[in-house]
Amino acid sequence: MKRIILAAIAAIVCTIISHATAYAASDGATLYAQYCSGCHGATPSGARVGATASTITNAIATISDMKSNSALKTLTTAQIQAIADFLGGGASTTDSGSTLFLSYCISCHNTVPTTDPRLVGATASKITNAISSITQMKSNSSLAALTSTQTQAISDFITSSGKSSNWTIVGVGDFNADNNTDILWRDTVNGYNVAWLMNGTTYQGVMSLPTLAGNSWLVEGVGDFNQDGYADILWRNVSTGENVIWLMNGAAVKSYVSLPTLSDRNWTVAAIGDFNGDGKPDILLRHLVYGYNVIWYLNGTSYSSYDILPQLSDQSWVVGGAADMDKDGHTDLVWRNKTSGYNAIWDLSGTSIANSYLLSPQVSDTSWSIAAVARPDSNGYVNIFWRNQVSGSNAVWTMNGTNVLNYETLTTVAP
Ligand code: HEC
Ligand code: HEC
Repeated sequence: MKRIILAAIAAIVCTIISHATAYAASDGATLYAQYCSGCHGATPSGARVGATASTITNAIATISDMKSNSALKTLTTAQIQAIADFLGGGASTTDSGSTLFLSYCISCHNTVPTTDPRLVGATASKITNAISSITQMKSNSSLAALTSTQTQAISDFITSSGKSSNWTIVGVGDFNADNNTDILWRDTVNGYNVAWLMNGTTYQGVMSLPTLAGNSWLVEGVGDFNQDGYADILWRNVSTGENVIWLMNGAAVKSYVSLPTLSDRNWTVAAIGDFNGDGKPDILLRHLVYGYNVIWYLNGTSYSSYDILPQLSDQSWVVGGAADMDKDGHTDLVWRNKTSGYNAIWDLSGTSIANSYLLSPQVSDTSWSIAAVARPDSNGYVNIFWRNQVSGSNAVWTMNGTNVLNYETLTTVAP
């Protein structure tokens, strides 16, 4: 059943995408008159006033009279945005950079901008250039409507301009070799890297790792690549495409090794996990434009071969992490839909999908993203680590297979 729901959602999204390329969005007032006035009257009133694009999308998906009106299903994201702008729920000049970023950019970019290689150092002029030159951005008509003040606010949010810190969770792993999963934080403004030493979901102390300032290197994930019991850190250089592992000995970098270079910035490391069951971490790469998913099998710290997982071209779905959710010996994938807030699991059997499940609850606030997924220790239930990069809130879901057993909040860390 849940699998069918997921397939249906994918089909709806595909329909929306294909219509988006087939029709150009026209203006919100005309669209409102054509699609909405029949039931809501020529002049918007009540809940229509100030409705945002996501309120309208939700109403189309949930209110029975709207659900059964097939014309509404053909509306593209851009058209819904245009209607929202007309109703007054579109971007206003006072919207913050984070609000604008979440409504205009995350359909194609990572929710946490510091983890998207394409957004590093995005000044307002770089964004304006990108809107007029990058094919995918050029064909998205809502981007062209952004004013220079709004573009500047988005740039300030992405680059943390004027802020004294910008803390993000960049991975989880056992940094002090006590068999407990710790949380790795990076402050991209100052280059600080810090591990929260945990016992389950209880904070026990902090460990400072070497600082790496500048924004060419992104932390892509954490795994014990050389199997010495200490978590190691995978870095990716956004300008050269180099990939380097810091082999850690607790807080110190013991040595480093290079993996093959991937120069296309649209490839990101989506998760680290043991996909072939040899007990050693492998790397899941996801292509941010085409949605290809590729596993690099590692033999310790060297690349050995690759395999291909099913493609998921809808970029709204992002990998939250990889772990064996159902304890069947195969590493599974946890996905988050960053625009609808649905969360799902691919129950993998090797490289094929044995089952897929939608998780409950949905987390419709899209400022939340899944920061990492891991078992806190070798016997425990899988934890899903959540971070809200706008409010600074952090939370953990303890999972039993596909059920959320428990929900806990961690200390808030202002971004
Ligand atoms: C077939 C009739 C019908 C059409 C067409 C229709 N709606 Fe609705 N809509 C409803 C009904 C019924 C409700 C629920 C009662 C209410 O809020 O008035 C509703 C509620 C809403 C709400 C409030 C949702 C909430 O959560 O409170 C919004 C916003 C909305 N519609 C927007 C739109 C927009 C925008 C369009 C055009 C794209 C549209 N509707 C087209 C029938 C319709
Ligand atoms: C419809 C999809 C889409 C949307 C929406 C979108 N982008 Fe992009 N953007 C892309 C793609 C695809 C690339 C990478 C193109 C490449 O390098 O192949 C990109 C690249 C970029 C770049 C790098 C440009 C360069 O020349 O290095 C910046 C900066 C950027 N986007 C900012 C933004 C911002 C800010 C927003 C929101 C206001 C946004 N984008 C919305 C698809 C999108």
